Amino acid sequence: MMRPLQIRGLAGALGAEVRGVDLSSPLDAATREALDDALHRYGVLCVRDQKLSTEALLALAKQFGSPDVHPIANGMPGHPEVIKVLKPAGERAFFGTSWHTDNSFFECPSALTILYGEQVPPVGGDTVFASMEGALAALSEPVRRFLEPLCAVHSASSAYDPKTTGDAKYRGETAIQYTFSDRIYDEVVHPVVRTHPATGRKSLYVNPMFTQQIVGLSKPESAALLAMLYDLSTRPELCCRIHWENGTVAIWDNRWLQHYAIDDYADYERIMYRVTVRGERPV
Ligand code: SIN
Repeated sequence: MMRPLQIRGLAGALGAEVRGVDLSSPLDAATREALDDALHRYGVLCVRDQKLSTEALLALAKQFGSPDVHPIANGMPGHPEVIKVLKPAGERAFFGTSWHTDNSFFECPSALTILYGEQVPPVGGDTVFASMEGALAALSEPVRRFLEPLCAVHSASSAYDPKTTGDAKYRGETAIQYTFSDRIYDEVVHPVVRTHPATGRKSLYVNPMFTQQIVGLSKPESAALLAMLYDLSTRPELCCRIHWENGTVAIWDNRWLQHYAIDDYADYERIMYRVTVRGERPV
């Protein structure tokens, strides 16, 4: 019998710290339901004091759905679903260091991400999250009505094209290694405003890393509109900031959040393990 979860909100818009659960063993139905409810309420849960092997992290992810295999970033030997997000001391971080929603360039983008902080810097290396539901709600009614029927093209090309982002990561010269695939140029179209399948709530679904253009608008129109939406959606009032401790597991819902890994810990190593869980086609 598990103890009841202790949940403490971190900011007005989203985010909570959770204690009183051991994620290394199978979750009972009540705990799973409590975590789901908390995810619907807070979007990102930062569960403290965990110790997870790679197998336990994967087993945890499987309790939430089917783990994705990333088409470009290499997974761990024997566990292709788990990406070791390693930033050695003395190097700059580059994984996730701008605003994005995980894998929005998939046809069925990741619903959840689970990130386990095994060794984190004493200072720096926080992750910031933004509520895209809050961003939509902050728009005026006429703009919301304008956005509602629109779709946008997403692809991995701006993030992973070796011609513009360099090819060191494809040549085994970086801590996180990648395998080049033409799939980075694939384009998928998702609605600009999506409805969450479990809560029925609406949120904006665009992000600077993977959204290329709003369908039907000219390039300058699309760029100006997206810039306005990105500016609005990352206002401090719509954000929360997770400070990692060794043993923190963050679980977040990509369907109504975007996030940003802060690159401010050059002197320190940071070792994290990430699994994403397959989502549904956005509607
Ligand atoms: C990610 O973008 O999935 C990684 C975030 C982080 O390393 O904090």
